[in-house]
Amino acid sequence: MERSEQVAQAKLLMARLDAGTNVDAGGFRRNPTDVYVDGDLARRERDAFFGGHPHLVGLSGDLPGPGSFLTCDDLPTPILATRDDDGRLRAFVNACRHRGVVLEERDRGEERRFTCPFHRWTYDTAGALVGLPNPDHFGNPDPSCLGLVELPSLEEAGLLWVHPDPAGTIDLDEQLGAELRAELAAWDLGELSYLGRDAYEVACNWKLAMDTFGETYHFPALHAETINLAFHGNVQCYDTYGRNHRMLLCKRDIETLRTLPEDDWSITTAALPVYWLFPNVQLMPFAEGLHLLRAYPDPHDPGRHVSRISWYLRPGPAADADARLALTGLSEGFGGIIRDEDYVVAASQQRTASSGAVDHVVFGRNEPALHHYHGTYRRLLGMEPLPLLETI
Ligand code: FES
Ligand SMILES: [Fe+2]
Repeated sequence: MERSEQVAQAKLLMARLDAGTNVDAGGFRRNPTDVYVDGDLARRERDAFFGGHPHLVGLSGDLPGPGSFLTCDDLPTPILATRDDDGRLRAFVNACRHRGVVLEERDRGEERRFTCPFHRWTYDTAGALVGLPNPDHFGNPDPSCLGLVELPSLEEAGLLWVHPDPAGTIDLDEQLGAELRAELAAWDLGELSYLGRDAYEVACNWKLAMDTFGETYHFPALHAETINLAFHGNVQCYDTYGRNHRMLLCKRDIETLRTLPEDDWSITTAALPVYWLFPNVQLMPFAEGLHLLRAYPDPHDPGRHVSRISWYLRPGPAADADARLALTGLSEGFGGIIRDEDYVVAASQQRTASSGAVDHVVFGRNEPALHHYHGTYRRLLGMEPLPLLETI
């Protein structure tokens, strides 16, 4: 985030704190609960949002050097992403070209050669078939025709994008827009190194997982003994960038800025920025590192999803053993709050939605992200927008 924007947003948070005001979505919306239950809608979402859209598969620090790889099994296409021998991001369908066995089952690691367990066909980091047993017996196939199926991929500003469709395209101007692209670049995410990860399988729709990130109104209640100790629950800044958004969660530490000249202000003292990157990413940079959370629908059950959270460090703390230890604890603690507090109520919301007894829920004026999430999902699926209501 540019310095002038950091100061402007910190001032806006202070003004809202002092005046006792908050963001205003302009009204209410009723959200039908069947969007969390309907199997046909879940299939359309999976096709359009997860099979037919570029995905963030990690940060540059997830592939630290040539030979690094990661896999993703949460999208309709199994993905193997590598950093090739020239240091470039490459992505492939994670399937052997002989008889289609999944080539790499590990979720990350270092490998210059990928060897299929079935008959030992072997591929390099650029996806080329570089060896097979008894080629004369097999019939001397042309290896240049049997490389891994490549997927569109793009590394920009420390973010690794892959399109799960070999015929898809990645257009970050369309997807993020120039303004958000520039803002994300200003965070220098390319310098972050990988710290750790966790995964939570939860009995709730993937959109309910996203919804828990959509407002801070719940901090004083649900997180009374945790997040609320460090954050103000009823103050935030909120801006949209096409199908994406940025929330700034107001830290109690914002008070320290009042004693400092503006040139010394940092938004990371005043707030935790939370970027929602459509459809399923919450990206949270802070002074020492970053939390990344992605939610993926269960392909068979609209009432289930998996959230994958990963943590990253800036070079200073990454090189300091004590800082690494402290930030590992902080990151695991943050993940634990999401798992043990947010996702417990999300699963509870799923139970009532699945019962069919409550046909809609209500989004308030102070929950603009919820209006925007669901407006975006509906618009991109050609569904009727939810009307904005002045009273409820
Ligand atoms: S299926 Fe991979 S080598 Fe035969
Ligand atoms: Fe929460």
